[in-house]
Amino acid sequence: MSTSTPSQPQPQPRPITILYGSETGTSEDLANELGRMLERCRFQPTVLPMNALDASTLPEHKTVVFVVSTAGQGDLPANALVFWKYLLRKNLLKDWLSGTKVTSFGCGDSSYVNYNWAAKKVRARLRQLGAQELMVHAEGDDQDDGGVDSLFIEWAKVLCDKLLQLFPLPPGVEVMPEDATIPPKWTLQPASTDSTLHPAPAGVSTFDFSLRPNSITATITKNERVTPETHFQDVRLFELSLSKPTVYTPGDTVSVLPRNPTTAVDAFLTLQPHLAPYADSPLELKPTPYLIANYPPELRPLPLVEPGKFFTLRDLLTNILDITAIPRRSFFQFLADYAEDPMHKDRLLQFSNPQYTEDLWNYTLRPRRTLLETLEDFNAVKLPLDALVNPYFPVIKPRLFSVSSSPFGNELPPPGAKPATETPASDKLELLVAIVKYKTKLSRPRIGLCSNYLASLPPNTPLNIVISHPATQSFIPKDPTLPILAIAPGTGVAPIRALIWHRLHTNPSTKTTLIFGNRNRSSDFFFHSELEMLASKSLIKLYTIFSRDPKPLLPDGTADTTKPEVGYVQKLISGKAWRDVYDNLVNGGVFYLCGSSGAMPKGVREAVGKVVMGGGGGGISYEQAEKVVNGLGKGGRWVQETW
Ligand SMILES: Cc1cc2nc3c(=O)[nH]c(=O)nc-3n(C[C@H](O)[C@H](O)[C@H](O)COP(=O)(O)OP(=O)(O)OC[C@H]3O[C@@H](n4cnc5c(N)ncnc54)[C@H](O)[C@@H]3O)c2cc1C
Ligand SMILES: Cc1cc2nc3c(=O)[nH]c(=O)nc-3n(C[C@H](O)[C@H](O)[C@H](O)COP(=O)(O)O)c2cc1C
Repeated sequence: MSTSTPSQPQPQPRPITILYGSETGTSEDLANELGRMLERCRFQPTVLPMNALDASTLPEHKTVVFVVSTAGQGDLPANALVFWKYLLRKNLLKDWLSGTKVTSFGCGDSSYVNYNWAAKKVRARLRQLGAQELMVHAEGDDQDDGGVDSLFIEWAKVLCDKLLQLFPLPPGVEVMPEDATIPPKWTLQPASTDSTLHPAPAGVSTFDFSLRPNSITATITKNERVTPETHFQDVRLFELSLSKPTVYTPGDTVSVLPRNPTTAVDAFLTLQPHLAPYADSPLELKPTPYLIANYPPELRPLPLVEPGKFFTLRDLLTNILDITAIPRRSFFQFLADYAEDPMHKDRLLQFSNPQYTEDLWNYTLRPRRTLLETLEDFNAVKLPLDALVNPYFPVIKPRLFSVSSSPFGNELPPPGAKPATETPASDKLELLVAIVKYKTKLSRPRIGLCSNYLASLPPNTPLNIVISHPATQSFIPKDPTLPILAIAPGTGVAPIRALIWHRLHTNPSTKTTLIFGNRNRSSDFFFHSELEMLASKSLIKLYTIFSRDPKPLLPDGTADTTKPEVGYVQKLISGKAWRDVYDNLVNGGVFYLCGSSGAMPKGVREAVGKVVMGGGGGGISYEQAEKVVNGLGKGGRWVQETW
């Protein structure tokens, strides 16, 4: 293993601030990856969520890179909103940022009408405030092969070159070679005997991994499978009892931080047997001399775990390190540092080289190869303890789940009751969760980390959760008397069910239409009894369609049109539900699109576009219709939550 060259003169600090806005961790990962690339170029990058920087100090930062995802309905992620609010202040002068060079990268999904809006808004505002763009802004798309990564890595490389031109290295100092190790910033060591716990007993932790800012403790009171045991798809209804009555509204999400299963933790320790002796003894984090020498305290990257607290390696592997994740490109470069076999090292470096992106995807994304399997393949890699707490190692990200219940409950208000004007607090909450289990192209079984973690929790298990309201725009229409039409296949029905019950108690006379689809009517028509009951009382209008039910045929082999159609929700939009979709368009109604990301949202948008075309009597082109649909987003009439 080669290390960075300590004999080189220490260059003057060349700080770069990297600010990210991230809801589910993608921008955070990319910002960290850029940080590592810049560190190789001997810059001192500070990677922070936007809210962690006091926005009033932005002019003091001379070079700032923004990596911003779009969340909600074209909004900035919650961890960027405080910063963003400051940036929008009217009293900021046009030259406020004239001394700051900036650039930005957006992460978005082109299946949303508000594609990459957050990054666009940030860029426009920075320019308004006089910031100079040091490099062209770019936008990554989840829908691209390889996701946002493919463009990002190209963009980041050009950015590094550009920054090296702007801030050349001092004479005699070179960019760190690809095979050199970036010095670690934190070390993980057996807890010292002069610590408060003296001597620290085996297995003891003083760090509480379950505590997160704004979290509350809930108790799982129900974990009920709602699809038949014989059906391949396991979907659960979870009921959580909250420690205190809480007001939550439709569109709120519950964030759950999953844990790795014991089998995965044991597998890691088997693959890295030299680390097994540390599994159950107390460890602590300490800053390295490199960190102290190179980073002034205000620019120091945050450690994974608060220094001064004890935890065991098993704790770290269970609660923090994402050992079943699909590794990113930078992880291969990191592994190469510790590969004792030159052939393994070469292969790992090849995967980390953007020129071999196809090879990387063939190895990771396409077969969904996990970090553990990668360690199994590259068994010449021997990770030192310190390596586990440096920012190359992926960390477990919390997952979000839409609240599927309403504090009003799922009982109709008594006859003659006045519509409620306020949402009550409730100590119960429900989630509808699809348990992710699938086979890869190589027929290897895979399970989703969080959904399976939840599925494994029996009733009465405490669960640490964070309940969040949509950061800016409300999920409930601004004008609650407007009609709504929700297209919500699969578990996408979860937030819509909450909205339906909310409306039944607050605005019972407004029109609500639901278009629901899934695979089989008999096994995955979620909440069917209550939805059919509401439809039978004309309290909602309900359309359903199932894609894997047998096609209804007459004895002569022709379609039996008296029976329910088979197909996807798009078929209903352009067929049986056409009139309601059209009415919702012309009557100023709000559209909801919830459920899985990928092909569904695009197909639905196209189908709604065709309704616009048809409604225009044939005089409207598809492009014009698309503009109408995109315009719905701008007017708050298209609410999309797809995951
Ligand atoms: C705002 C929001 C609301 C959400 N609400 C809900 C909800 O109400 N109910 C719900 O169930 N989920 C919901 N989700 C999704 C949820 O957050 C998790 O993403 C989901 O449960 C999977 O997490 P996991 O940890 O189990 O799987 P992970 O370990 O994260 O693995 C999931 C990944 O596995 C891959 N994958 C899954 N299936 C296949 C397959 N068949 N073939 C190939 N690859 C596959 C995909 O890449 C997917 O991204 C919501 C997400 C968001 C952002
Ligand atoms: C609830 C939700 C809302 C989203 N809204 C938008 C949007 O309005 N426009 C867009 O381009 N992408 C949108 N996306 C896609 C994300 O921006 C994209 O997946 C991004 O890579 C996530 O980055 P993050 O993990 O850093 O939050 C949304 C994703 C989710 C889950």
